[in-house]
Amino acid sequence: MGESDRKQKIVQGANGIRTAAKALRSGALAAFPTETVYGLGADATNDTAVAKIYEAKGRPLFNPLIVHAADKEALKSLVSWSPHADILADAFWPGPLTLVLPRNKDCPVSLLASAGLDTLAVRVPSLNLARSLLEACGCPVAAPSANKSGHVSPTTADHVAGEFGAELSVILDGGPCQIGLESTVIDLTTDQPVLLRPGGVSQERLENTVGEVGVATSETPLKSPGMLERHYAPATPLRLEARSAEAGEILLGFGPEAPSGTLNLSVDGDLLEAAANLFAMLRDLEQAGPAGIAVMPIPKMGLGAAINDRLRRATTSA
Ligand code: TXA
Ligand code: MG
Repeated sequence: MGESDRKQKIVQGANGIRTAAKALRSGALAAFPTETVYGLGADATNDTAVAKIYEAKGRPLFNPLIVHAADKEALKSLVSWSPHADILADAFWPGPLTLVLPRNKDCPVSLLASAGLDTLAVRVPSLNLARSLLEACGCPVAAPSANKSGHVSPTTADHVAGEFGAELSVILDGGPCQIGLESTVIDLTTDQPVLLRPGGVSQERLENTVGEVGVATSETPLKSPGMLERHYAPATPLRLEARSAEAGEILLGFGPEAPSGTLNLSVDGDLLEAAANLFAMLRDLEQAGPAGIAVMPIPKMGLGAAINDRLRRATTSA
């Protein structure tokens, strides 16, 4: 990408915080530094804003995002908090530890950030600039590392600028990241905590705090982020590339050709809107208890490739 294609504004200090917070609140993406790596942030409660993260990164829709806030209290209301969570948060927050916990029933965070799972990953970063930004925007912020999917994580504002074009308008510059390695991710949804991703906090330090910690392996597919696609097993079978619903099925529409009265991922055929609606609409349809869900064809370009990939995984999971 040429220099002239880049439209991002690199901002700093108190003014930078105001600019980035305003962008986040308006549903735009803003990159920001943490002590680990730079994050690509979006308002976690805004489906379309969260979909923009997946689109900008080229991230598979089965890979969930970490939600950040300025303090523990702001995150506790989103998830079903636990004694282990208390111990670990008190020991390592703010800091490079991410806790995976069950979502609360009324959790306002986009289902897309959870990639359709019943869990949510939460973290309070320790970098003051990051926490000032999170305080200023007043909403939980979903943020994966600010790199294209498959690239290494960025640790300077310039790295971030090199990854993205006009889809990212604001980068808050806090200098080089102190840790430069992503946070440790630990699953607290089972009796024994399970390490999903090694990172800024070592397993030894975790075990000194909460006792024995399991480690995710290929034998524990439900706990390993790389295997998460198998976690999502819809109760209702999906049929793809459908033109109409057969007996007992409900049609999930896409685009203007869908029959009126059909639940539609995007009447305008907008893939960003479709990604934002995907998980929530599948859940809605499942609740009606049909024999199957027939999904109309979705173009495979851009974010559509990720949507189709996610739907295929949902049809093949047991
Ligand atoms: O240090 C970090 O964690 C940085 C900064 C920006 O906070 N963020 C980061 O995000 O590294 P990302 O998206 O690159 O990595 C998040 C990891 C992925 O491996 C993802 O699969 C896992 O966390 N994850 C997120 N939500 C999860 C969930 N509900 N269950 C299991 N794993 C989850
Ligand atoms: Mg990453």
